[in-house]
Amino acid sequence: MKIAVIQGPNLNMLGVRETNIYGPMKLEDIHTQMRAVAEQNGFDIEFFQSNLEGEIVDKIQECLGEADGIIINPAAYTHTSIAIRDAISAVQLPTIEVHISNVARREEFRKKSLISDVVAGTIVGFGPFSYHLAMVGMIQILNEIKAIKAQKKNG
Ligand code: DQA
Repeated sequence: MKIAVIQGPNLNMLGVRETNIYGPMKLEDIHTQMRAVAEQNGFDIEFFQSNLEGEIVDKIQECLGEADGIIINPAAYTHTSIAIRDAISAVQLPTIEVHISNVARREEFRKKSLISDVVAGTIVGFGPFSYHLAMVGMIQILNEIKAIKAQKKNG
């Protein structure tokens, strides 16, 4: 089974960008850790980052038939993008929303997510460790799906 990790705008600048908020870790290093967890648990994983809303919508659509679950940090589009929300709803794949910072403790405009009510769950505010927690959650969801499929096959 395959997990798709989708990263929104400016996350390519992690490690450089507002390190007081997002910490010193680079996106590449976060992805290396996620890949290790995926491999240890027998899952395939792929990574995608874009600064463009339409490209993120395209990537979510491409997950249909290609991936079994999505971990997404839509970054600033979290607060603005009906298109990304609709794409997540359209593909009907188990999806986990991730934020590095605790958006509830920041500016008013970050308190609203257009994504939260169309995803399985949201992990917020643990720094780069949010991605690890999302991996644990996704592996749990996919293992449950696997078990249900196996049960149906055998019963
Ligand atoms: C973010 C929070 C967003 O408000 C912000 O625009 C980001 C990153 C986070 O991971 O904390 O770019 O999604």
